[in-house]
Amino acid sequence: MSEHLLEVEHLKQYFPIKTGFFTTKPLKAVDNVSFTIDHGETLGLVGESGCGKTTVGRTILRLYEPTGGVVRFEGEEVTDKNIHSLRRQMQMVFQDPYSSLNPRMTVEDIIGEPLDVHNLYSNKKERREKILDLMNTVGLNAEHATRYAHEFSGGQRQRIGIARALAVDPKFIVCDEPVSALDVSIQAQVINMFEDLQAKLGVAYLFIAHDLLVVRHISKNIAVMYLGHMVEAAESDELMTHPIHPYTQSLLSAVPIPDPKIARQKQRIMLEGDVPSPLNMPTGCPFRTRCRFATEKCAEECPELTDRGGGHKVACWNH
Ligand SMILES: Nc1ncnc2c1ncn2[C@@H]1O[C@H](COP(=O)(O)OP(=O)(O)OP(=O)(O)O)[C@@H](O)[C@H]1O
Ligand SMILES: [Mg+2]
Repeated sequence: MSEHLLEVEHLKQYFPIKTGFFTTKPLKAVDNVSFTIDHGETLGLVGESGCGKTTVGRTILRLYEPTGGVVRFEGEEVTDKNIHSLRRQMQMVFQDPYSSLNPRMTVEDIIGEPLDVHNLYSNKKERREKILDLMNTVGLNAEHATRYAHEFSGGQRQRIGIARALAVDPKFIVCDEPVSALDVSIQAQVINMFEDLQAKLGVAYLFIAHDLLVVRHISKNIAVMYLGHMVEAAESDELMTHPIHPYTQSLLSAVPIPDPKIARQKQRIMLEGDVPSPLNMPTGCPFRTRCRFATEKCAEECPELTDRGGGHKVACWNH
């Protein structure tokens, strides 16, 4: 058996986009992305809007058929044939707790649904006990079981979504920007809950966010994406203190620092231009059109993600 819980190798997701009556063009949402996640660990996945984070998560769970590459879960390749049984091990929590829960279903029905789908109880009483237990785990009041999803605040809805994901006792959860839609004051509470649940249940996360500060504390490792590509990946503190890729450096330079002395010394690196369209990718390195250090070589060949020592991986010709 593999030592990694999840292995993603050269994952590709191209969406065919119609460009005319008979012509389509591939939109390369995810291109050649590889990473691993171990049991009970968190990988933080960051990058600007549209860089392909959600697509990575959805393709791993086979909500999309991958264009290329392999996903292995506990050493077993994930395919259309085994995905139904693997869904008991791999779950997803969505970004928007308002649209991802059916407002006309009660909390009990929402959390009970995966229990029904996977036949995880032998009688009504056991079903109810499991639901109340899950509600307790995520800090929801048992009296709320018969209330409707629309009666709850964003933070509470996200707790319902997490209880639903936990119902099947998964080993791995894709958390797709689970706190982005919440008030800042609620964000920390929900992130702490994710951490507590991990300590208690040993569940592993792919934790997606566009903000490095959100993933920093919860993630053992962080990976940075740009335009469908992974440009840098390292252990969390290492990445925050010694970013190597010019894109990661610019992301970090935008992160606010609480100490005004250090903040004054820090230079903000502004990126020029806009992110190119994934329908018209630059040749070579995807970041080169906005990179201060780009050379001819960068336009010719796309750099591979290579280990610069201690598992700190970077895809860049110059750094
Ligand atoms: N089903 C789809 N069909 C066609 N294109 C898609 C589809 N889903 C995503 N895309 C495109 O793929 C690219 C990556 O989208 P994705 O939603 O994965 O980005 P993201 O990093 O999650 O962004 P955000 O931070 O806004 O959630 C975008 O250009 C998007 O328009
Ligand atoms: Mg997304």
